[in-house]
Amino acid sequence: MRKKIIAGNWKMNNSNAESVSLIQSLLKYNFAKDIRIIIAPSFTQLSLINEKLQNSNIEVASQNMHFADNGAYTGEISSSMIKSSGVSITILGHSERRTFFNETDEILKEKVDRALNENMEIIFCVGEQLSDRKSGNHFDHIKSQLEKAVFNQPDISWKNIIIAYEPIWAIGTGETASPNQVQEMHLFIRNIVSENYNKSIANSVSIIYGGSVKPSNAKDIFSQLDVDGGLIGGASLNSNDFAAIVNAS
Ligand code: PGA
Repeated sequence: MRKKIIAGNWKMNNSNAESVSLIQSLLKYNFAKDIRIIIAPSFTQLSLINEKLQNSNIEVASQNMHFADNGAYTGEISSSMIKSSGVSITILGHSERRTFFNETDEILKEKVDRALNENMEIIFCVGEQLSDRKSGNHFDHIKSQLEKAVFNQPDISWKNIIIAYEPIWAIGTGETASPNQVQEMHLFIRNIVSENYNKSIANSVSIIYGGSVKPSNAKDIFSQLDVDGGLIGGASLNSNDFAAIVNAS
């Protein structure tokens, strides 16, 4: 049985005080123990938020990571730095990184290699543009993103891979993929994991959905057979909304 995962991607939001207050509000909820809840604050708040969540079952992830372990990469953060903040999960390949920071499949492959070699868990994001979907190219696009960065990983690494399907046209736009569209893509992803690896890995990998998930649509999306939770942007900045989404999973 795959555990449901609800991850909040705070993106570039919140002062330290705002983040602490958001965490304090979340800690007042009594979330079911069988749901994995993950919060991804900015790099500067990893230690702070991790410390605040020490005695809770909420985990912390970083939003990004560099592929090198150290060196002359001004402004970048390595896996060992993230780990020394007590955090061992990272989001990789978010469409905002791919689009605004030119992260290519090749760069992402290096980041995935580094994270998995360092025994970190990754939430690897894939997603198509509206034009891909309109031209019927969305399945090929997702397949190619997976082939280039994660389908070359050894079987053993799959225990540390979570896939997030995030159609770009649904991120921060208020437009959500329909439950059927989400289920169709998640099943496609599970099937190609099975083709490239085996049924057991395909059945155990968590595939979560991101793109304008809110309290009003969470239940319909999360109840789909191959949807194992969500990666939540905007709605994760409000404790009531995020809690309602966790409780809908
Ligand atoms: P959104 O963002 O929920 O604000 O659409 C999702 C994401 O970017 O992970």
